[in-house]
Amino acid sequence: MDCKYNFIYESQKATAEFFIFVSMIDDDFSLKLIKWYSENKRNLPWRESKSPYKIWISEIILQQTKVDQGLPYYLKFIKKFPNVHDLAIANENMVLKLWQGLGYYSRARNLHYSAKYISNHLNGEFPKTYDELIKLKGVGKYTASAIASFAFNEKKAVLDGNVFRVLSRYFGIEDPIDTTLGSKIFENIAFINLPKKNVDTYNQSVMEFGALQCKPAKPNCNSCSLNSKCFAFNNNKILSLPLKSKKIIKKERFFNFIILKSEKFIFLEKRIKNDIWKNMYQFPLFEEPIESFSPPKDLIKTSILSKKTEVTHLLTHQKLNVTFWEFEFKKLFQNKKYEKIKIKKLNEYPVPKIVENYINQNISIHRL
Ligand code: ADE
Repeated sequence: MDCKYNFIYESQKATAEFFIFVSMIDDDFSLKLIKWYSENKRNLPWRESKSPYKIWISEIILQQTKVDQGLPYYLKFIKKFPNVHDLAIANENMVLKLWQGLGYYSRARNLHYSAKYISNHLNGEFPKTYDELIKLKGVGKYTASAIASFAFNEKKAVLDGNVFRVLSRYFGIEDPIDTTLGSKIFENIAFINLPKKNVDTYNQSVMEFGALQCKPAKPNCNSCSLNSKCFAFNNNKILSLPLKSKKIIKKERFFNFIILKSEKFIFLEKRIKNDIWKNMYQFPLFEEPIESFSPPKDLIKTSILSKKTEVTHLLTHQKLNVTFWEFEFKKLFQNKKYEKIKIKKLNEYPVPKIVENYINQNISIHRL
């Protein structure tokens, strides 16, 4: 059967599940959310624009990033690259440098890649439909739905962490959000509850409601205009919804950064492998537990160890145990593997946050 509930018909509980879905259509839900939004929304610059380019930039920045942190990056980015052609012709170091500190740097590399594609192959014309948008590198279901609905008013529901939480609590969806079946159920419930018009405003409303009212830890349930029909509120399940099936297991890694510097020069290396921080710069790295590691003799000859600093750095899927070994040279040698750069130019290179912090706290850039 060709209908939007295809997956239900494939399951054995087809009829029962179909009626469960139909019973989850609730017109009050979108009406109340839109009303709440008109009274509580934040004024954010990307909401004042119908430009798919600006919406795209904002939505990529806001993935895994809170509005307060993402806003200054959005403003910097749009100022430097006001349109897709400006971004397309930029050099990658500059794009990564602007992104420095936001993390998940593949987002910036993919933005740059897709900007070049739109500028060179689509004549600068931004794709206008969900089906075309999702073909862009770095654009998944969420971002394609956001651009399609905000810029072109296409009837697509956005589903991000905030929306999963609102839907699971209000409708009492106890399927885990991180399974194939669970996400299909959420997609269907989100879709059947879209209002007939103003899908763009509704999508902004449900995300904003999740961010400000139906928050993860301390939701404002007592002052909530949706509480009378909220499953979680009425069944004491606010803090247990939404459900996830898997716990993130962090992989532990041991990084030794060897800082080789003289008064004026320092070595950097570019990360080229498919790993975290691809195409960013760092101090020469040796990945090995500190107990068994000692800095290679051929690199540190004629120098003295001036500082050793240990820090832990947490990423979503990794725990990094990082040791910085700083060696001071009277005169820095040449080396084929590393780039010898002027210390006063250090700030021009895109570096991961942990390296940026080390530089800010330990290396004086403007002394010369
Ligand atoms: N998070 C993701 N997209 C957003 C948007 N358009 N407004 C506010 N927060 C968001």
